[in-house]
Amino acid sequence: MIMRPLIAGNWKMHGDMSWIEKPAQFDTLMPATERGHLDILICPPALFIAPMAASCFETNILLGAQNCHRAESGAHTGEVSAGMVKSAGADFVIVGHSEIRAGGETDEDVATKAMAAAKQGLMPIICVGESLDTRKDGQAESVVSAQIKASVPEGLTDYVLAYEPIWAIGTGMTATADDIKAMHAVIREIVGPNVRILYGGSVKPANAKEILGTENVNGALIGGASLEMESLAAIARAA
Ligand code: PGA
Repeated sequence: MIMRPLIAGNWKMHGDMSWIEKPAQFDTLMPATERGHLDILICPPALFIAPMAASCFETNILLGAQNCHRAESGAHTGEVSAGMVKSAGADFVIVGHSEIRAGGETDEDVATKAMAAAKQGLMPIICVGESLDTRKDGQAESVVSAQIKASVPEGLTDYVLAYEPIWAIGTGMTATADDIKAMHAVIREIVGPNVRILYGGSVKPANAKEILGTENVNGALIGGASLEMESLAAIARAA
């Protein structure tokens, strides 16, 4: 089955209000006609979603949040609900990123957030990935499989799965094409034929073609290289 690639940029805690002009520049770098065969998503800090929704209007760039709270509303100081993300103009939300899991978020929390997102009409991007020790121990596939089974809520069929080996995030190290191929085959078995599986971890223009050409890789989740529109466009061209 041919799936539309998803090229997703995660800005993390970078940027300021001047950056929201950039999506318009994206149109100059990569005309909409060239993007007809793929989806391009930017996940800025939550504060910038609404103004970006205005500046991205008519550019066919999709917007997402980097996280959301599991509750619909309530006394959760500093948090953002899935409903707020949706009403600000986003269609996606990343849940279970390893940088948030590192703060104690469990698979169960991730599943609850994914369900909260889906209820609001957001497409959750559920992240999983093993540590370097786990990979060295030869446990990467079993650990990732267990994470997926516990992080994808029962009954949810419409979601994106992002495989991001923790040791490859922001380090410049990437998994080899063979490792990615093997892991994505395992993931495909679990998630079935209709879920897009992204690879994430130091994806950049120089390695995008090989990674995106790997079997069962349906796109990429990109941190550092998504901060420059030019490099994000170069990655998108490789898809
Ligand atoms: P990176 O980040 O591309 O900077 O490695 C990826 C991610 O955290 O999603």
